[in-house]
Amino acid sequence: MRNIMIAPSILSADFANLGSEVRAVDEAGADVIHIDVMDGHFVPNITIGPLIVEAVRRVTTRVLDVHLMIANADLYVDSFAEAGADWITVHVEACTHLHRTVSRIKELGKMAGVVLNPATPLSTVDYILEEVDLVMLMSVNPGFGGQTFVASTLEKTWQLKSRIDTLGLDVGIEIDGGIGQANIAQVAEAGANIFVAGSAIYGCDEYSEIISDLKRLAGEGERRRGQD
Ligand code: DX5
Ligand code: ZN
Repeated sequence: MRNIMIAPSILSADFANLGSEVRAVDEAGADVIHIDVMDGHFVPNITIGPLIVEAVRRVTTRVLDVHLMIANADLYVDSFAEAGADWITVHVEACTHLHRTVSRIKELGKMAGVVLNPATPLSTVDYILEEVDLVMLMSVNPGFGGQTFVASTLEKTWQLKSRIDTLGLDVGIEIDGGIGQANIAQVAEAGANIFVAGSAIYGCDEYSEIISDLKRLAGEGERRRGQD
């Protein structure tokens, strides 16, 4: 969970050609395919459900990272697992019984992650950190692609990384929202290793160029961190 991974978010893909859009980023070097599930309740937008995850599963062997921005996640984690999700991440703000939800995801044999909105304090993961495979920090308010990176996420990432290291845990740090060539190195230097990018990747003509550039820049940030 500590390798650098680039996770294109299909939210910015051409949904009329979803299969070829997923294959294209897979062949261009994506490590993870990030799938944004929105319910129109927890977030003010509606996207996709298990049927689409199942369809995406058929066209790629990459890790499917299913980001649930939904109320009542407990009702749906089984369906997403069955549809082929490898990682299932749930919001601490949306899960009343977070420990139960995370335990269920792990019981299903999937990697479990918890997600925090920009204004949600890190202390909300104090008693779940040892149970999860990754923590995802939202660097935008969830609901839409193409938004601007919330600057306070950087300090939050430094703090989360230091907490994980102090506890000696193997927990990945994923950052979602507004990531691109201008900021990925700084975010990697702060301690993140999994980078979601929707508009930055799908907005480019050459997916392989942008993905390798993001990887290179993240690597530079990681090395800078190592020298500190
Ligand atoms: C926002 C989603 C993100 C989004 C990222 O709610 O969770 O995954 O697709 O898109 P960009 O990279 O364009 O900010
Ligand atoms: Zn997302």
